[in-house]
Amino acid sequence: MALDTETLKQRLAKQRWTGHNLRLNDEVTTWPGHSDFDPLDLRLKAIRRILRFTFGDQPGKLRIADLGALEGGYSLALARQGAEVIGVEARKLNFDKLALLEEHFALPNLKFVMADVKEFTAERYGAFDVVLALGILYHLDRPVEWLRQVAAATRRLIVIDSHFAPADDHALSKIDPRLSALSALETVTYNGISYQGRWFKEFEPTFSREEELWASYSNWRSFWLTKGSLVRAIRDAGFDLVLEQHDYSADSHDRLAIEFPRTMIVGLKLN
Ligand SMILES: C[S@@+](CC[C@H](N)C(=O)[O-])C[C@H]1O[C@@H](n2cnc3c(N)ncnc32)[C@H](O)[C@@H]1O
Repeated sequence: MALDTETLKQRLAKQRWTGHNLRLNDEVTTWPGHSDFDPLDLRLKAIRRILRFTFGDQPGKLRIADLGALEGGYSLALARQGAEVIGVEARKLNFDKLALLEEHFALPNLKFVMADVKEFTAERYGAFDVVLALGILYHLDRPVEWLRQVAAATRRLIVIDSHFAPADDHALSKIDPRLSALSALETVTYNGISYQGRWFKEFEPTFSREEELWASYSNWRSFWLTKGSLVRAIRDAGFDLVLEQHDYSADSHDRLAIEFPRTMIVGLKLN
């Protein structure tokens, strides 16, 4: 049953919302002062376009995983359209917010799991028509292996929104200072195939990882693939089509190419 306004306000007062402003009822939203996540979030709009392009108007038939769910905006929006959604989030301070959504909306087709996405396998979670990997790949230390593992649980479509590492040192000098904790270029090998990238230091190994709500969870440094290696890794993981989605980010194209290197890639399996 939906929680009443007073209860919602008390529960929200104990939480720290940082990204998804979700409307809980006529009076209460999770992150007041910010625009409504649904329908205004640009990535959500882009994902809806991708789903419509791929599956037509049938979100209700889809099984979707949202990996690194943070505050559940994507999971909730797609579950409200009828999809069966599982959101996976490791950090307790974020998971508490997801638990509030689950309790308040009580949708039978929306479930959140507090777990490490590194343990997301077909054996544990089953197969999904769609996997959303938004803002998570660049928080992992073994992204190539992880993509293979996730691909094995993906029947049709993966949407990856990720930073990537500059391929040359000249580009590194132009990067936003917030992203500058990148190492020299390194090569990693998986199944005899080489991929390039740079290590990104997320926090000191001794830091309390629970407090940094947007950071990696089970590794203190992450391996950012270069864009070339990222698209190869997605293809090598088993996606027949690998497309770059520009429509939500077209206005920031130049910034996202160099200063704040980030992209949304869609991988599609042709059945
Ligand atoms: C940058 S935020 C992105 C959140 C959301 N997907 C979005 O795009 O708005 C990264 C999220 O992934 C979670 N996370 C990081 N490493 C994780 C891991 N190994 N397993 C599960 N969640 C993780 C963080 O706690 C955080 O909620």
